[in-house]
Amino acid sequence: MVSKLKSKRLSGIGEYYFSKKLREIDTLNAKGENVLNLGIGSPDMPPPSAVKETLVNGFNELNYHQYQSYKGIPDLRNAFAKWYAKYFGVMLEPDAEVLPLIGSKEGVIHISMSLLNEGDQALVPNPGYPTYGSATNLAGGEPVYYSLDEAHQYHPDFDALEQLDLSRVKLMWVNYPHMPTGGNGSDDLFAQLIQFSRKHQIVIVNDNPYGFILTDKRRSLLQQRQNTDLVLELNSISKSHNMAGWRIGVLVGNADLIQTVLAFKSNVDSGQFKPVMRSAVAALEVSEDWYELLNDEYKIRKKLAQQVVELIGCTFRDEEVGMFIWARIPTEFSDGESFADFLLNKYRIFIPPGSVFGSEGKSFIRLSLCSPREIWEEVIKRIKEKE
Ligand SMILES: Cc1ncc(COP(=O)(O)O)c(C=O)c1O
Repeated sequence: MVSKLKSKRLSGIGEYYFSKKLREIDTLNAKGENVLNLGIGSPDMPPPSAVKETLVNGFNELNYHQYQSYKGIPDLRNAFAKWYAKYFGVMLEPDAEVLPLIGSKEGVIHISMSLLNEGDQALVPNPGYPTYGSATNLAGGEPVYYSLDEAHQYHPDFDALEQLDLSRVKLMWVNYPHMPTGGNGSDDLFAQLIQFSRKHQIVIVNDNPYGFILTDKRRSLLQQRQNTDLVLELNSISKSHNMAGWRIGVLVGNADLIQTVLAFKSNVDSGQFKPVMRSAVAALEVSEDWYELLNDEYKIRKKLAQQVVELIGCTFRDEEVGMFIWARIPTEFSDGESFADFLLNKYRIFIPPGSVFGSEGKSFIRLSLCSPREIWEEVIKRIKEKE
C-alpha cells in the first residue's frame, strides 16, 4: 500500500548500499564477531578545541536560540570569505558570493532543484559521489554520466565530452580532490573546465570538501573564474575540521547563481543554530598548524592503509590525494562486491566495493582513512594470522 503512495521522483532511488551493509555488520557483531570497518568516511578525530568552548558559551545567550537568517550570520559569511582568501587566494564578497549551508550535501540538492527543469541534463562523474545523480533525478533532470579513469588521472576526457549532444546539459558536477578515486585537480584541468563552461554555457560546480586532506596544493575552481560567470564551488568543514556531524558547509561563486539557490533554500530550511555557526567561525579561524597536525595523522594512517592494500593483493596509485585509498582488486575476483564479501567472510573486515560509486568502480574497493591507527594495526595482524 505504502509503495503506491511513493512519489514518482523517488522511483529508482533505493536504500544506500552502506545502510544495508551496516545492518549485516551489526548482525555479525551482535553474534560476537568483531568486524573491523574500514569503510566509513566520517572523521573520527576531535574538532579544534576553540570550537567546543564557543559552543558551550553560546548556550547562555538568549537570542542564540531564535530562528537565524537563511544566509547564516554575517560573521560566518565573513569567516568563509577570509578562509577562501587565506588558503585559496580567492576574494569573495561575503554578502553576495558566500552562502552557508547545512553541509555540502545539502548544496547538491539545492543547486539541482534551483537550476534544473524537467528534461534538463547534468554531467555527473562515474565513479563519483552518488548524491549528484540522485539529486539530478529528484529535480526531474537526467544525469549523463562521464567516465573517469586512471589513464586520464581521473580527469574528464574533454574529447569524449565534446562528442556528446550537449544541447540539454545545464550543469556539470566535478569534485577535486575526487572522491572516491583520490584524483587531484590541476591548474590546467580547471582552466579547461572553465573554457568548456564558457563554450557550452554550462554551469560547473566543483564540490571541494577534501581540499585540505593530503593535498599538495590548495585548489579552488574559483581561482580561474575570471572568464566566466557560470562557476560555483561547494565546501565544508566536515573533513577539514573533523566536524561532519555539525552540518556546516558553504556555497561560493557567482552572486546571481547564489541568489537563485537562496530562493529555493529559503523555502526549505532556516539558518543553523547560532552557537553552531559561531563555533564554525572559530574553526575557520584556526592557524595553519591545525591542518599540518591533521595531515600528519592521515599520512601515518595512509602508510598503514597501503600495507593493508598490499596484503590483500590490491594495487593503488601513489599520487592519490584526499581521505580515501582507491584500490584495484586482484584479477582473480570478478568485481569489488565479491571481493568485499570475501574480505568480510574471511577476515571480518568491511571495505566497500567501488561499484557503490558507479559502474566505473567495478574493479575497485575504497578504504577510508577515518579509522584510528589501532584499527589498521589490528587489521594487519588479523590478515597475517589468517593467511
Ligand atoms: C564528494 C563529497 N561531497 C560531499 C559530501 C558531503 O559532505 P558534507 O558533510 O559537507 O555534507 C561528501 C561526504 O562524504 C563527499 O564525499
